[in-house]
Amino acid sequence: MGTPLHWPAEAIWEAVVADLPDFSVEVLAQIDSTNSELMRRARAGRLEPVLLVAEQQTAGRGRMGRQWFSGPVDSAAHAAPYGGPTSLTFSLGLPLAPQDWSGLSLAVGISVAQSLHPDLRLKWPNDLWWQARKLAGILIETASLNTSRYLVVGIGINITPPPAAGLATPPAWLQELLPGIAAGQALQRVAAPLIRAIKAFEQDGFLPFQTRFNERDALSGLGVTLSDGTSGIARGVDSDGALRVQTAQGLQLISSSEVSVRPLTPQLL
Ligand code: BTN
Repeated sequence: MGTPLHWPAEAIWEAVVADLPDFSVEVLAQIDSTNSELMRRARAGRLEPVLLVAEQQTAGRGRMGRQWFSGPVDSAAHAAPYGGPTSLTFSLGLPLAPQDWSGLSLAVGISVAQSLHPDLRLKWPNDLWWQARKLAGILIETASLNTSRYLVVGIGINITPPPAAGLATPPAWLQELLPGIAAGQALQRVAAPLIRAIKAFEQDGFLPFQTRFNERDALSGLGVTLSDGTSGIARGVDSDGALRVQTAQGLQLISSSEVSVRPLTPQLL
């Protein structure tokens, strides 16, 4: 199928296809954005489940209209088992029909964190943090179908040190926690469990994930500022995945992922 050898596409396909018939794994050398590509395909009626990996994105997108930087392929790293890109960028697309979509992005973050390392924390709603620095981001989009929706889950994970110029807090990278790990190995760890987690969410909703989020919650007990200016103490998430913030006016439930949450004392995490 022309997939570069350092990507374990076949192993992932074998681990997943029984649960997800018609599933395929595709690896591209370069594309604007794996999320944009799967959204274009969905709008054109291509609704099959697919894992789309890009070795490089030229217009990677983050949450709230931000850009997502994807480093170039490091040719020296190809010598290592599954070597290659300096970051792992992929999107998973599949039709999904949960009764309630609340908390899906948190469930995705929990699954990815669990697959990678016990010390990874989650910054609500779904950033992966290590030692108060961002290691990975998740961008979830959906396209409406007749009766259900096509879900696109985009994930970007720093593998080697990303550029930190202009950032107040330099990002984290996976090789800090798992020395020598390559992008393909990281993909192999996260892909099949992620698909199982999304199918479990479709069946049972967020409630079974609540405790696992709170165990990894990076903000718990810390002062936070919401983008509307409100401040308070973060108190975990409720059974829908809403962030509980104790404010002077009482407990507020923050459910919109458009609200950005800033810890007041990130250096203490
Ligand atoms: C964020 O933290 O703002 C979310 C970042 C999501 C980046 C990933 S990389 C693969 C997929 N394609 C994109 O254009 N974005 C997501």
